[in-house]
Amino acid sequence: MTRGHIEIIQTAEQPTTDLESVGWSFDSHAQVLSQDSETEAITLVLQLPPGYRRWAGTHEHTAELYVLSGFLTIGDVTLGAGTYQLLPGGVMQGQWRADEACSVWMKTDGTPKFNPNRGGGERLPDPLNTTKMDWIISPIPGPPCGLLLKPLRVDTETGASTFLSGIVPQYHYPFIEYHRCVEESFLIRGDIRLGNSGLMTAGSYFYRPPYISHGPFYSHAGKLGLSSTDAPLDNHYIDDPFRSAEQNLADSQYEAPAPNLLST
Ligand SMILES: [Fe+2]
Repeated sequence: MTRGHIEIIQTAEQPTTDLESVGWSFDSHAQVLSQDSETEAITLVLQLPPGYRRWAGTHEHTAELYVLSGFLTIGDVTLGAGTYQLLPGGVMQGQWRADEACSVWMKTDGTPKFNPNRGGGERLPDPLNTTKMDWIISPIPGPPCGLLLKPLRVDTETGASTFLSGIVPQYHYPFIEYHRCVEESFLIRGDIRLGNSGLMTAGSYFYRPPYISHGPFYSHAGKLGLSSTDAPLDNHYIDDPFRSAEQNLADSQYEAPAPNLLST
């Protein structure tokens, strides 16, 4: 395993790192949530100060952004809070500008290395203003009514996905589950209590390798979260909240692969 199990940390409690060492401009401050020790794929929250500038160039690997607060301008396109932007590796990005303080969730598929002033002529995908997207009822069997999704990125080959998940207030999900894929999630707003691991509030984050038992769940005020998987998500239910990943793996290893039920 090259990225360990992280069960509920708070972004505000993470130390601030300067990304200048990986080609980013001065003042590129970030709070790292998790990183793969082998590929250097990283999930973090950028904290860009007023007047921030980053030169044009390319990310070495594909990155995904979601603006949490403030405005980030990339080239001549301004992204406000709630906007998702896919930044394919090797595709030229215009200059980054933030006139006011700006906070951005970011996840990369590999090292976050940035190459200033280099890149191909391909065009960036259009940003997604998620505040205007329709919710869909989750097509993945299991959870009680009250869980909705906005798929943002789905790899049709691997089933890896990134999506917003919303749940209604007073959401009661009285089951203990595990998945056969990585599950990673950042809470944007609201709350959710996990019976075997604690309370998530705005800024809370977890990274779960496959087969980790978690639950049951209750949300008082509802929640909006940003989640990712590395393969199709499916739900397996068990009775013991402290059942080990090894036991879960042993029980499900002969099952057919999970179908990919998500699409953008
Ligand atoms: Fe889960």
